[in-house]
Amino acid sequence: MNHFLDIHTTERAALRQMIDQARSMKEARAGRSRGAPDDEQPLAGRMVALIFEKPSTRTRVSFDVGVRQMGGQTMVLSGQDMQLGHGETIADTARVLSRYVDLIMLRTFDEAVLQEMADYASVPVINGLTDRTHPCQIMADVMTYEEHRGSIAGKNVTWLGDGNNVFASFLHAATQFGFNLTFCGPQQLDPDREFLDQARAAGTNVRIERDPWKGVDGADLVVADTWVSMHDAQSSRERRHNLLRAYQVNDRLMAAASPEALFMHCLPAHREEEVTSSVMDGPQSVIFDEAENRLHAQKAVMRWCLGV
Ligand code: CP
Ligand code: NVA
Repeated sequence: MNHFLDIHTTERAALRQMIDQARSMKEARAGRSRGAPDDEQPLAGRMVALIFEKPSTRTRVSFDVGVRQMGGQTMVLSGQDMQLGHGETIADTARVLSRYVDLIMLRTFDEAVLQEMADYASVPVINGLTDRTHPCQIMADVMTYEEHRGSIAGKNVTWLGDGNNVFASFLHAATQFGFNLTFCGPQQLDPDREFLDQARAAGTNVRIERDPWKGVDGADLVVADTWVSMHDAQSSRERRHNLLRAYQVNDRLMAAASPEALFMHCLPAHREEEVTSSVMDGPQSVIFDEAENRLHAQKAVMRWCLGV
């Protein structure tokens, strides 16, 4: 069963094939309206359930549009409206959904929920973000970097801020796609220790740096994310802002990276908090290409899951 649960648990060759297919599918659609069908309709007759236990703009719309472009149909479900977490087990939900749909995309809190869904579903399950990882985002980010700058292998990527779920998937991608990764943030918000140890054991070049100026020195790609994720308590907001203020990506910090450096943010962004508008809207920013590439990358992920 081809579940797409995380970048480090998916074979390297499959990841590369997905990125390459995403690029060729994107090129084949150039100039078409978003609603126009692809020439190939690999999802014709397929039903995809998109389940959200957290808010979403990009993931929701890009998966929905992607399925339709490939000839399939979707149902977008809110976790709150389902029996999920209201007494029925995830395992039973997985068995039931597998009788109706061909593919399940799930955005949830605890990765154990995603894992249980995958363990008991008889159809592929895709991780649409958990508290711990966000693999679809980083597939789009690798695709975006390579569109602009060629192979990401051997490049220096610097993450500024919280060592969160999006960083974790960057760490997995560093191992699988062979780039160097610097985490630059306060010790209190260090990345997941288990993932760091795994990446280092796999020979990945991961650096922890507290000083943002040293962190961006030589960076080919600078990445930021929100300081307060959806799973973080709102009561932690002030503490997080105080810890992270020094890591804001602004023009001065971008100027300290490589002159060719790109800027990425998975969005939604908080302008003038983790990044200034001058950087978001500046010439090094590729944030809206990233958002667009969610569509193309996930179409390739779905094709791989379904083997079509
Ligand atoms: N980047 C991302 O996953 O955005 P959404 O939360 O809007 O889906
Ligand atoms: N780290 C953020 C990413 C949102 C797409 C969150 O989990 O809220």
